[in-house]
Amino acid sequence: MTLQEIVDDYLLHNKKIRLHLGCGPNILLDWINVEGELYGNQESIYTHNLIEEYPVPANTVDEILSVHVIEHITPEKVPFMFSEWLRILKPGKSVAVEWPDLLKMCRYIVDDPSRIYSDNRKIQKRSVAGIFGNIGKHKSIEMLHKWGYSEESMCKLFLQAGFSKVEIQTPVFPKTEMDSRVVAYK
Ligand SMILES: C[S@@+](CC[C@H](N)C(=O)[O-])C[C@H]1O[C@@H](n2cnc3c(N)ncnc32)[C@H](O)[C@@H]1O
Repeated sequence: MTLQEIVDDYLLHNKKIRLHLGCGPNILLDWINVEGELYGNQESIYTHNLIEEYPVPANTVDEILSVHVIEHITPEKVPFMFSEWLRILKPGKSVAVEWPDLLKMCRYIVDDPSRIYSDNRKIQKRSVAGIFGNIGKHKSIEMLHKWGYSEESMCKLFLQAGFSKVEIQTPVFPKTEMDSRVVAYK
């Protein structure tokens, strides 16, 4: 089934549409799990390039979630992606994004600059690998991070895209304590 087919099916049966975008291997129950080519085409994962137009009618989606994905999108593609999320969400409904926060990781390094060249994986994940991407883990240049955000810059981007309200919340799926979460409402 394609993303368009599953969405049409949910609409036909009046089911809530909750999109988990860039799910990777993390399948969430009660969500439509969506991925690019990397993990797509597996059973229960629907393939879609997140920076392209969504095959989803306007004002039909109840919730969007995206964890550790926004830093993989080149910044010039983000405004269109956000405008698509705004288009497909029902009025008043929200998108939550979680990501490794550039400002928190910079502060962590400034607090102790030796962390830049640490061999300790936990420290790397909270500093250089957290900022640039974990090439040791993913073995692919494609998986390096394309950009970085703080809570404030993320809020600003959502408001610029036309979302009516933003909230800084505690991450629900944190990989480290450097993560941030912003929820934006249509
Ligand atoms: C670091 S992984 C995070 C996976 C999962 N959300 C998690 O929390 O473990 C980033 C994911 O975003 C996906 N991704 C990045 N850019 C994408 C795009 N343009 N379209 C679809 N998926 C994309 C990648 O394929 C990858 O699975």
